[in-house]
Amino acid sequence: MDGASINRPDEEDLRRRRRASELLARAELFSGLDRVTLAKLAANLDPVSFRKGEAACNQGEKGDSLYLVSEGTFGVYVRGTDDKPPVRVAELTRGGCFGEMALLTGEPRSATVLADGDGELLRLDQERFTELVRRDPNIGLALSASLSRRLGAASRTIKDSEHLIRDRVERQLDALTAEQRANVLRVSVLDEANEQSLAVLFGADGADVAARLADLGWDEGRAPAAVVSALRAAHARAFGPDNVAAYARETIEKLSNAECWQDALTVAETFAPREKFVALFGRALRAGAELSSDKILHWLQWLTEEEAASDPVLAAGRDALRQAQVAAEPAPEISFRQRLLNFSNRLRNKPGQIVSVALSVVFVAAAIYASTSSKPAAFVLLLAGAIILWIAAIFPEFVVYLGLVVAWVFLGIAKPSEAVAGFGSTSWISIFAILAIGTALAESGLVFRLGLLLVRRLPKGLIAQGAAYLASGLLLTLLVPASAARARLLLPTALAAAQSQRFKDRSPESAFLGLSAFIGAGPLLYTFLNGSSSNFLGLGLIPEAARAQFDLAFWFVAAAPLAAFVSIGSLAALWFILKPGTTQQASHAQVDLQLSLLGRTTGNEIVMALILIALVVGWNIGPSFGINPAIVGLASVVAAALAGCLNRQSLNDLNWDFLVSFGVVLSLPPIMTALGIDAQISNAVRHTIGNASLHPAIFVLATALLNIGTRFLLPRGQTVLLLAIILIPVAPVFDVHPWIVVITVLATFTLWVLPNQSVSYVVAYESSEERMFSHEQARKVCFAFIIVTLVGLLVSMPYWRWLGLV
Ligand code: CMP
Repeated sequence: MDGASINRPDEEDLRRRRRASELLARAELFSGLDRVTLAKLAANLDPVSFRKGEAACNQGEKGDSLYLVSEGTFGVYVRGTDDKPPVRVAELTRGGCFGEMALLTGEPRSATVLADGDGELLRLDQERFTELVRRDPNIGLALSASLSRRLGAASRTIKDSEHLIRDRVERQLDALTAEQRANVLRVSVLDEANEQSLAVLFGADGADVAARLADLGWDEGRAPAAVVSALRAAHARAFGPDNVAAYARETIEKLSNAECWQDALTVAETFAPREKFVALFGRALRAGAELSSDKILHWLQWLTEEEAASDPVLAAGRDALRQAQVAAEPAPEISFRQRLLNFSNRLRNKPGQIVSVALSVVFVAAAIYASTSSKPAAFVLLLAGAIILWIAAIFPEFVVYLGLVVAWVFLGIAKPSEAVAGFGSTSWISIFAILAIGTALAESGLVFRLGLLLVRRLPKGLIAQGAAYLASGLLLTLLVPASAARARLLLPTALAAAQSQRFKDRSPESAFLGLSAFIGAGPLLYTFLNGSSSNFLGLGLIPEAARAQFDLAFWFVAAAPLAAFVSIGSLAALWFILKPGTTQQASHAQVDLQLSLLGRTTGNEIVMALILIALVVGWNIGPSFGINPAIVGLASVVAAALAGCLNRQSLNDLNWDFLVSFGVVLSLPPIMTALGIDAQISNAVRHTIGNASLHPAIFVLATALLNIGTRFLLPRGQTVLLLAIILIPVAPVFDVHPWIVVITVLATFTLWVLPNQSVSYVVAYESSEERMFSHEQARKVCFAFIIVTLVGLLVSMPYWRWLGLV
């Protein structure tokens, strides 16, 4: 292939990308964004070219994008309600943005935007825009600033045009005779000047006055508001305010005597004292005045209660109005779709929710009853009530957990210090430190940069690429302790890799890369202890003595063969199921733009990399020097904060729902042991199986299958909790170390047969902009993943036996 023909478009592309990068970094709208967010945003901007005179958007159309001018000049044109040609209200140059109004309000486009010459825009679609505004308050602020400036400019335009009208009115008045001018000025006390009123006020001169008014822009007896206010100002200047008021009183008198009620009342509304207006309104109604319904409504609403009560006619009018309003009370505007949704939600949720709340109340009542005779029974009943509430998902998780603590103490199941002991445990401190450091790492941009560098250095073959993404997901486990957060970081870079090779959306190649990245980032979370809060949760639930040997290193040693088997098996399954083709020459323009927006490696990134290395080393060698890993974790949090990589906001943004719940979970095992519940469970199982010797592998398989079933009912954390509570005491009966229960549950609980089953899957799907794989493709892979994992568990048994865990 001709090298130049490949390179030239790339170079052109690169040049454009560079300019786009400068533009984004300088654009006012994005001025509040940090460089990491900006670099992520860059992947979502599509350049669109325009020729002179072409429209980027048309007034009145529905809007679905925001635009940023990257080349050329664009004019904003607004068309009025009349047939006059559109007015050019603004000009947008490089860095300017438009199209935000329709996106924010849902109204049609407020203006037409045309290219003055050849130009280019960067287009951001509605979904990304909304996401950005939601995530970043700075964008909202920048948008309000831009809208306020536009409103200010529009107000100035209105003021300018009022000046112009005033000048024109005064010139026209100057051209009139003194008498004509006086008559025209007098008319300004009226909002409308119909022929009848003019005849009443000016007699035979009425027709002449009407002609003069038409010259001034009066149309069918109505004046433009700006002309009336110019005339009123001139009237006051020429005759003085007192004379204007006296003339207005005279006008009201004349018009009401001639039964021109509507005009009389309109003048009275502006110029007469309130009580005079109220009296006149009553007179008019009694006289059976023909008033427009708009005016009647307006005036009746304008009256106070006392004013209405002062005259029986007005009181009757108000009553009639109120009754009419009640009868015609418009139903709140709800779209048909919304109604349908509300209805189906009611059907789906209400009965279920009522039943679950009622059931859990029954369990709590039973627990209260049982607490006098048997504390363990009360404990189990409370837990059952909590599980029902978790399944129904009516309240946030932490509420149910905290409710448990309160109930334990009230029912005398645990002392207050025992019920909240988990919060003071080193496990809780460790997970807190891991979450905080994970946030600081993500915010520093280090992880995103590594992801982009990976795209730059991706191997050629697709299998190697899939393996690279899966491995990156796994390695990220060391840096980012939450699978959803890893998916969010990794999938956009996988998408960038797919785009740079021009893979079609949801093609087998694209799905292969995307799902490899997802499996590395999500389901393999058990590879490293700090890969997920669930790992800590599981570990926290096994007895203290059994837990001691599982530091970061031993956990990895024990989990590695299973993880390796599942990784290789999943890649093979992906290949077999998706049957991808081959790769093509990649273009790195987009990634280069993102890297250039990230800029040079910052101090924060370097500091965070160092802290991370120190943390991992500290975790592993600290204990041999008598330093607790939790304290190493806290030291790293302090270091990150002192270095300015972790601020109060990042701390507030931690997953406190989980942290609060986790504190309660950690309090559970000692309480259960004190109550003798775990001993009772294991005795019961021992009793049931009697002397039959069951193979440990059967126990492991049963655990896995039980877990897969439970995951269709309960969220991840609660599945681990429930199964660990029930199965950990049983494990010794089968000569299995409790950790094996934990790893089995962890290895089989990230399922995505139903998309909503796993948060990390949903995040992966969305972070790949729904472009890398379909749910259909993913579901097939999920079944294969389950089989591979089950086989992996069996294959790992001899190794675990060798480690002394079976
Ligand atoms: P939108 O209504 O979505 O589509 C047309 C866009 O033109 C609008 O958003 C604004 O971004 C822009 N626009 C409308 N009126 C003005 C104005 N007076 N000055 C500057 N820009 C405007």
